[in-house]
Amino acid sequence: MGSAVYDVHGQSAVITMNNPPVNGLGFDLRREIVAGLAHAETDAKVKALVLIGSPRAFSGGADIREFGSPKSTAEPSLNTVILALENAGKPIVAAIGGACMGGGLELAMACHFRVAVNGAQIALPEVKLGLMPGAGGTQRLPRLIGAEAALNMIVSGEAVPSEKLSGTALFDEMIEGDLLEGALAFAGKIVAEGRPLKRVRDIKPSLPNAEGFFQFARNTVGAAAKNFPAPLKCVDAVAAAVALPFEEGVRLERELFVQLMQSPESRALRHAFFAERAAAKIPDVPEGTPLRKIDKVAVIGAGTMGSGITVNFLSAGIPVTLLEAKKEALDKARGGIRGIYEASAKKGRLKPQQVEERMALLTPTQSYDDLKDADMVVEAVFEEISVKEAVFRRLDEVMKPGAILASNTSTLDLNRIAAFTKRPHDVIGTHFFSPANVMKLLEVVRGEKTAKDVLATVMGMAKKIKKTAVVSGVCDGFIGNRMVEQYLRQALFLLEEGASPRQMDRAVEKWGMAMGPFRMSDLAGNDIGWAIRKRRYREQPGMKYSRIADRLCEQGRFGQKTGLGWYRYEAGRRDAIPDPAVEQMIVDYSKEIGVERRKIGEEEIVQRLIFALVNEGAAILHDGIAQRASDIDMVYLTGYGFPVYRGGPMFYADEIGLYNVVASMGRFAANPHGDPGFWKPAPLLDRLAAEGKGFN
Ligand SMILES: NC(=O)c1ccc[n+]([C@@H]2O[C@H](COP(=O)([O-])OP(=O)(O)OC[C@H]3O[C@@H](n4cnc5c(N)ncnc54)[C@H](O)[C@@H]3O)[C@@H](O)[C@H]2O)c1
Repeated sequence: MGSAVYDVHGQSAVITMNNPPVNGLGFDLRREIVAGLAHAETDAKVKALVLIGSPRAFSGGADIREFGSPKSTAEPSLNTVILALENAGKPIVAAIGGACMGGGLELAMACHFRVAVNGAQIALPEVKLGLMPGAGGTQRLPRLIGAEAALNMIVSGEAVPSEKLSGTALFDEMIEGDLLEGALAFAGKIVAEGRPLKRVRDIKPSLPNAEGFFQFARNTVGAAAKNFPAPLKCVDAVAAAVALPFEEGVRLERELFVQLMQSPESRALRHAFFAERAAAKIPDVPEGTPLRKIDKVAVIGAGTMGSGITVNFLSAGIPVTLLEAKKEALDKARGGIRGIYEASAKKGRLKPQQVEERMALLTPTQSYDDLKDADMVVEAVFEEISVKEAVFRRLDEVMKPGAILASNTSTLDLNRIAAFTKRPHDVIGTHFFSPANVMKLLEVVRGEKTAKDVLATVMGMAKKIKKTAVVSGVCDGFIGNRMVEQYLRQALFLLEEGASPRQMDRAVEKWGMAMGPFRMSDLAGNDIGWAIRKRRYREQPGMKYSRIADRLCEQGRFGQKTGLGWYRYEAGRRDAIPDPAVEQMIVDYSKEIGVERRKIGEEEIVQRLIFALVNEGAAILHDGIAQRASDIDMVYLTGYGFPVYRGGPMFYADEIGLYNVVASMGRFAANPHGDPGFWKPAPLLDRLAAEGKGFN
């Protein structure tokens, strides 16, 4: 079967789009629609044409598998198909069920009539990729549902259920029962009545006080869209639909679309879109790998992480047995988990009954006997190898054969943990981020001996609990924290040289990071970094580290949890208030080490911090810890508050050009206080820059 099927039912021809999963408008499908149309036009027996998709989708829009390939723009392009349909001499009825989105909706709006079933999902989601509809969507939708409603849909990109649009000119009839039968009956009716063809382009949109409305829209959309150009351009295009003749509006839409296509923000959003899909793929693990069944989960350790991890599973309807050494901690965790659900219920996100249903899936215990039938266990006890050893030896004894044994360790060697068991192939790392029930990122740590089906099963499980999973090899810090260590190390050098915590946080936050390095350290706890540094001093004495953060920790300034860190915090509040005592300490420290402080500009701050990430990212790629550069970007976008409109550190470096990144690093190395060792480009970065290539 081809991408579309053509057949004739009485007086009506039917084109059934058949390009699973969502009838993406790929080259073959576009060609077959035009061919079907030509058939119908030349067959004198055919009086009308019905265009229909599958129950899942009329059409989800462009075929993402063709994105960026010559096929995506090859003729007949979507615009050509749309013109052919709209200009046809026989009535065309779009029969809409399932997803009708993007180019799919633009296709439907080119038909002369549209019928739909309830529950179809109608959207123009292009804005989510930093784009706007580019095949007449911004001009036709306002003509059918009014400028205001159309603007809301185009600027938000959100789907609207068809029944909510049933009173508008978008739908000529809502069909109950079988969609094709209903559409054929409708086609029969319009033929019998001799109804004139309705071309959406001919509708005159009207909007009283259009000027005032669009002014208001520009203000609100502009304020909300901040770093994204697309939403404001959507407003311009919809305004044109009201103010200009159709042809001119379409021309403007095309122009704006092309501008957006070339904008760095859209490139970054499209990169992130594909990076997320790529992250789920593991080159040496075939897609059809049989998965292990995970119906019941156990979690060990009911602290901060164990509780958050438990919530993820309960929310996905998976029963959890939560084992904890201390009774009080267990009770506290149970109360905390209930608290999370009750807070959701208060906000109207959960029904009270759902709170109870989820809580009923939780079994707190202090006995390993209760773990026997769990299919997977996630360990989240103290970060000490001896504690992990005791737990894994015990799990090896009690867990059933084939159960997956996962550790949430952030710094310990997973291969060592696996070796505590007689089944290292069943051991894997699941590195959640705090708060574990909120953060999207899950680093899935592949040990030397982790079995492929264990890896595939955990990747599938991550999807079920709505995480973005990225595979990492075993190394200190995995992908995210190994890179962040260099970023923080560089931040401390900047402190010594003349910057303040506030200045640096502001600079990178203005650049787009959700939180600067010092606010982040205060949130995570400065004692955590301290412990890591102490280890580094022992294990890598040659590595240059500023001791300034140690001074802070020696004063017990661990961050938010102690009320004092790089900033001070007032009880019950999270605002970071600059503390003159810290600033004095920094100035004194610079003096002590003989550094004359200088004013450091924002650009230098941002570049030094971000390029520190990039260089370590390159080393991680070279070491095979990350599978691909875009995986590193996903880690930073979903776990470290990296601005999505910059696409992640590796993508950002590509955008700047690796040659320029290396050149800046050379300048930083030459700075009298700079550390040439720090700024030595990773071999992969060096090579790619020399070859004029990028990471992605
Ligand atoms: N806190 C974070 O931001 C974060 C992020 C990612 C990973 N991790 C990792 O997650 C793990 C847990 O961290 P946390 O912050 O939740 O610690 P935590 O101190 O809040 O919780 C640990 C819990 O484990 C319990 N426990 C200790 N030994 C046990 C044993 N033998 N059997 C059963 N229970 C035991 C403790 O009583 C405590 O309730 C660590 O490996 C840590 O490195 C932490």
